[in-house]
Amino acid sequence: MSKATRAICVGTADRFPSRRPRRVRVANTSLVVLNGESGVSGPWYAYASVCPHRGAPLDDALVIGSILVCPWHGSEFDLRAGNYIQGPSTCPLRVFKVSKRRKRIFVNLEHDGDPDG
Ligand code: FES
Repeated sequence: MSKATRAICVGTADRFPSRRPRRVRVANTSLVVLNGESGVSGPWYAYASVCPHRGAPLDDALVIGSILVCPWHGSEFDLRAGNYIQGPSTCPLRVFKVSKRRKRIFVNLEHDGDPDG
């Protein structure tokens, strides 16, 4: 049985300056949307707004390529799949599938970042 999709528009691409994580709230879910490169072609990322270790605000995180570094204790996560690369976190970061249609950015809250899922 296929999983229902729930892609929600979080705004137009120009609302998200390059490489600057921005917190948004959609459908009672707080998450961070990031345009990972200059221009609007992406890659685009969306992930939980707080760190799974002790709840640091991840709109303050440093992002290097596709690696997010938590601002409090330095855990590193791969934004493509959410897995942790380096602790102290031993839990993955929840990530969401993002798509861009025309000038709008959509986040699928029912689908994690696994491209095969
Ligand atoms: S709160 Fe993120 S590593 Fe501790």
